[in-house]
Amino acid sequence: MAGEVLKDFGLKIALPSAVEPVENPLITIPQGNLNHMLPVSFNGELHLLRIPRSRESIASTVTALEQEYAGLGYFALGGRYRLRNLREQVKFARLCADRGVAVAAMQQVNGLTLVKYESALKLSRINITNGSDTEAAVAFLKTIVSAHEKGLVLGDRWTPNVLVKSSGEIVNIDFDIELTGLVSHEFELAQAIHYGSHSVSWQTWEAVDRWYRDGQSYLSTRYNLPVVNYFLHAHQLYQETHLQMNPYSLCIANL
Ligand SMILES: Nc1ncnc2c1ncn2[C@@H]1O[C@H](COP(=O)(O)OP(=O)(O)O)[C@@H](O)[C@H]1O
Ligand SMILES: [Mg+2]
Repeated sequence: MAGEVLKDFGLKIALPSAVEPVENPLITIPQGNLNHMLPVSFNGELHLLRIPRSRESIASTVTALEQEYAGLGYFALGGRYRLRNLREQVKFARLCADRGVAVAAMQQVNGLTLVKYESALKLSRINITNGSDTEAAVAFLKTIVSAHEKGLVLGDRWTPNVLVKSSGEIVNIDFDIELTGLVSHEFELAQAIHYGSHSVSWQTWEAVDRWYRDGQSYLSTRYNLPVVNYFLHAHQLYQETHLQMNPYSLCIANL
């Protein structure tokens, strides 16, 4: 049975008995650029079996990512990135949970990587469909600053990797990308502000803009703000010259 479900992935994976494929999930399971996500039941709860796509099929995504980071000046200022393998992703998600950063729980069962399914909307979707919800974007930014305070740079913090529960709680997902180096905190804050403010709602742009302006004295004790501003401008410029990637405008153009 498992083979039937998994054949779409061209993989032969023997599922341990505790992990059951969910043949007809009531929800649509989105697929990632880097990973397939397969619905399975584990301990009676819905999980997503994370199956990395082949090297060949992610090559263009990885190239685009490297070009973006290079174009943003991230490498030139001493930033570095690498892809975490599945074991490292699970370890990192555990570290986050231990330090009180809200992430989707990850675990390995007989070598398979399971992510606990969270019933939530992606921030990217909220920002294009529910323009009046300004809270989520700001809540997301607070989780990023809080993670940094706890010594954790999450990596790849754009809004498709941010879930928002109906309670408003933010759940970060997707830890394929590790950011390290001198400016990784500044880069990640700018990335989160840039994407977090991508909304059909002017109010959301304003709320993010206000959050950043009002927080300057606090943020300046933790970040090199000229570097954050540099990366904000770089994102803006990159957006203007790569419209196919970034369809929305940015609120912080004047910073
Ligand atoms: N824990 C989760 N709960 C609900 N949906 C999830 C969860 N993890 C991932 N997803 C969905 O699967 C998509 C792909 O997962 P993601 O981890 O972002 O993979 P990729 O690294 O390939 O982008 C996400 O955009 C999200 O829609
Ligand atoms: Mg993702």
